[in-house]
Amino acid sequence: MNDNLLWYKNAIFYELYVRAFNDSRGDGHGDLRGVVEKLDYVKELGVDCIWLLPIYPSPLEDDGYDIADYYGVHADYGTIEDFKALVNAAHERDIRVIADLVLNHTSDQHPWFQAARAGRNSKYRDYYVWSDTKDKYQDVRIIFLDTEESNWTWDETAGQYFWHRFYSSQPDLNYDNPQVHAEMFKVMKFWLDLGIDGFRADAVPYLYEREGTNCENLPETHAFLKKLRAFMDKYYPGRILLCEANQWPEDVRPYFGDGDEFHMGFHFPVMPRIYMAIRSGDGTPVIDILNRTPTIPDNCQWCTFLRNHDELTLEMVTEEERQWMWQEYAPEPRMRLNLGIRRRLAPLLDNDRRKIELANSLLFTLPGVPIVYYGDEIGMGDNVWLSDRNGVRTPMQWDASPNAGFSKADGDLYAPVIDDAVFGYQKVNVEVQRADSDSLYHTIKAMIAAKKQSAALQNGDFFWVEGDGNKSILAYLRSADKDSVLVVQNLSADEQVLTLKLPAGVPEKLKDILSEKEISVSGDSGLSLTLQPFEYLWLQI
Ligand code: BGC
Ligand code: MG
Repeated sequence: MNDNLLWYKNAIFYELYVRAFNDSRGDGHGDLRGVVEKLDYVKELGVDCIWLLPIYPSPLEDDGYDIADYYGVHADYGTIEDFKALVNAAHERDIRVIADLVLNHTSDQHPWFQAARAGRNSKYRDYYVWSDTKDKYQDVRIIFLDTEESNWTWDETAGQYFWHRFYSSQPDLNYDNPQVHAEMFKVMKFWLDLGIDGFRADAVPYLYEREGTNCENLPETHAFLKKLRAFMDKYYPGRILLCEANQWPEDVRPYFGDGDEFHMGFHFPVMPRIYMAIRSGDGTPVIDILNRTPTIPDNCQWCTFLRNHDELTLEMVTEEERQWMWQEYAPEPRMRLNLGIRRRLAPLLDNDRRKIELANSLLFTLPGVPIVYYGDEIGMGDNVWLSDRNGVRTPMQWDASPNAGFSKADGDLYAPVIDDAVFGYQKVNVEVQRADSDSLYHTIKAMIAAKKQSAALQNGDFFWVEGDGNKSILAYLRSADKDSVLVVQNLSADEQVLTLKLPAGVPEKLKDILSEKEISVSGDSGLSLTLQPFEYLWLQI
């Protein structure tokens, strides 16, 4: 395996929901052995690292983010032995594996919570956050707005309220208790010793509570996270921590510390702005948020994404922008969930190939490394009628055989496959798209390959390029030592004619990396271009 300690700075990530990917046992649930069977597919796409959604024993009230045992594998998914086999099989193919580390809370079925609620004298009581009243921490927002009324829930057995930032079946752990820290180090060590390459650390802004604050991003939280990083650096160099902090850029910045906290962090706010830009034909939201994004230390990297396993979150936009996004992208009330939208990439973009490619062009060329959500590389659809966020977690569509080739089960699958006229598995599947060199799958694969060959697109410096003041054009230069790529994108549904001002010394002919098309530059080192609706060019300089 590539032994560069900074491997994550230019890797392609793939978010993989094990239950949805491939069912090797025919019980209707995807499993770890099933993932092993499909690793060659992941490799062929160009993926360097897979992120597995939670695989631990859990009552699944929050699809595994409610952990009942940090040291096992959910029976639906297999065993620890299967997990080891998956890590080995991935490593043999030069693919790394990271998994969720859920620090903030456990399931209420976790033995710690069971013991904690049973007696005030239990040593586990203080693993959680209790109160006799609901009066504390009144300034804290509720995240699961559709289902939760308060961050406090009364526990009859305990005779007290307990604190939770997510479902009331997910009590928050008490990070003021050093025992809890010790437990989490043990958990990390266990998985790292099994060979895992790092963690996507879930919901980290919420670890500590302090009166008079919104209980997010507190200094105590950062201090603890720095300890996790020091532990990784000391014993497991080259393994990474990826930060899930759904926050404004200036609030995410501290999670990188001085290069001594997280290796990576999701860039949440840029995501909805990509959709805004494409819908309004105006790049301003993307420009503004990137200009507002602080620089990060050299050994850190942003992670960009278009969709994930949750609702398309609209927490990091203004109230006005949120209403607009809902109106444009969630016209049916059922499409909305909490402060977001429960739809997948392709349906959001009207299944319009030009827009889907354009969104991916942004994903693969903006600063940061991309995470592709399973199924989006073939333009899978969704099912908004499933509960919670399950509509974007349906079985991977491998081929046109029954159950989309996902499972040999006779009975029900964990969720129905998408079977509608537009996105049904009979039409939208891996087999069909692999065989068709014009498919979305091949375009995404080509984009990934192009990014991997370009130092500029991987880690190059980033500069905006002025496009005649035309707001529909989003153009920028990425440039590393000897490699420069000019990315020009038409966000609008109209043809755009423009002249870009280019730095002196640009050659007379530029080649689009993806299509190999050549474009001539006029004498005054301006680049005159006509872009088709939603067209994008990655021009090698
Ligand atoms: C995960 C969600 C989960 C929540 C609580 C999140 O940020 O992405 O799927 O429900 O954490 O664990
Ligand atoms: Mg907490």
